[in-house]
Amino acid sequence: MTAPAFLLFGANGDLAMRMLWPSLFRLFNDGSLPESMPVYGVSRSGSEQALHAQLRQVLAEEVPAQAPERLEQFLAKTGFITLDAGNGSDYAVLAQHLADAGQHVGLVYLSMPPDLFAPIVANLHAANLIAPDTRVILEKPIGKDLASSRAISDGVAAVLAEEQTYRIDHYLGKEAVQNLLALRFGNSIFEPLWNSHTIQSVQITIAESLGIGGRWGYYDNSGALRDMVQNHMLQLISLVAMEPPVNASSEAIRNEKIKVLQALRAVSVSDVGARVIFGQYAASEDGQMPGYNQESDALHPSQTETFVAIKAFVDNWRWKDVPFILKTGKRLAEKNTEVVIEFKPVPHPLFGEAEGRCANRLVIQMQPDEAITLDILNKTPDVHAFSLQPVSLNLEIHEAGNGKIRHIAYERLIRDAIKADRTLFVRRDELEQAWAWIDQIHAAWKSSGNAVLTYPAGSAGPSLP
Ligand code: BG6
Repeated sequence: MTAPAFLLFGANGDLAMRMLWPSLFRLFNDGSLPESMPVYGVSRSGSEQALHAQLRQVLAEEVPAQAPERLEQFLAKTGFITLDAGNGSDYAVLAQHLADAGQHVGLVYLSMPPDLFAPIVANLHAANLIAPDTRVILEKPIGKDLASSRAISDGVAAVLAEEQTYRIDHYLGKEAVQNLLALRFGNSIFEPLWNSHTIQSVQITIAESLGIGGRWGYYDNSGALRDMVQNHMLQLISLVAMEPPVNASSEAIRNEKIKVLQALRAVSVSDVGARVIFGQYAASEDGQMPGYNQESDALHPSQTETFVAIKAFVDNWRWKDVPFILKTGKRLAEKNTEVVIEFKPVPHPLFGEAEGRCANRLVIQMQPDEAITLDILNKTPDVHAFSLQPVSLNLEIHEAGNGKIRHIAYERLIRDAIKADRTLFVRRDELEQAWAWIDQIHAAWKSSGNAVLTYPAGSAGPSLP
């Protein structure tokens, strides 16, 4: 029996340094990365020495005070392989290296541009490196539309079974996102309320205060619709709107999620403007933050959207005509990811309309803090009058979890992939259904000729009419 090795392609990249190596190190520290599993950074350029030097810096903050030796132990099991992803003979060298070490390819993480996914798995296959237990994690985006996504998936599927293919959406690894399932299906009080009879609207917001951060080249070919809505936003709406699954298995949950995507109402050309707006950040009002087109790595004047708001509808029995307002953007006033369930007002307001404005809402905040808040109306303590005030019932999740929350979603997902648990990974049909909806929004948008609205960096962004 050879030992399964972990190969991280794109080992020197930004995502690897910010998220993937810290996740691997944390898993190593808590014993979730098997001692027998060697880790290799794979990249076209670099060396083991250079990788180790960089990891010593990047992981410094993660080193446990009570076990400082863990970093060197981790580096001792971390090697480096120089490999040009498109060069078949480099894979033969990799195969020889693993064979000499008594290892085989267990898990591969492709933190690479998606057009390389199919060539890489084909090259691994040609070098006899795909074993029955080999699993491959594919980083997003998988394509830039349905056609390109299908082409990539077909190429990957020519070598790998669906059970070996792990499409990552890091939002699914976030505690607060998984908690949506717990909240909805672990409590009986919400289910009778979770429908169009009681709920007036649902707002799902992923607001970011940061700009493009050196990723202009990638982002300009993507835009907010493809970078955030196609994946993270549609995962959130699926979890909020899905029917109860028959059990908690990965297939049962994914079967229900895809039905939400199938029920998303199409956006026609005449809906654009009323149901879809695109925005792009301009310089901040105080001139401190540059506009999207003035970012230092901007290549040319561009109309790519850094903000999108969509009024979506899930056309099924439960959600008839309930608007789901999806909103995401870069360089907004603050970082905030939340789902707000807005309940209908009482049918006969005994106490006047005005007091009710901020009440009747369930707010599930996911970032920067994790909290669940139920905003209700309460009597203002006052012996002379009967008036109401909105108050919040708060559940601060990190307190409820005794501070045990870990904030790297990737850590959870890599751990699951090591254990061959696909629950929190995206199925191919789910991915393609999501692209189909995004493609028709894109097409409607283009045909509409509507302008991309500009908003000052650091502002709230434009609003749907
Ligand atoms: C990524 C996007 O998938 O998610 C980025 O490519 C975005 O543009 C990021 O900034 C947001 O993730 P998080 O976890 O910070 O909300």
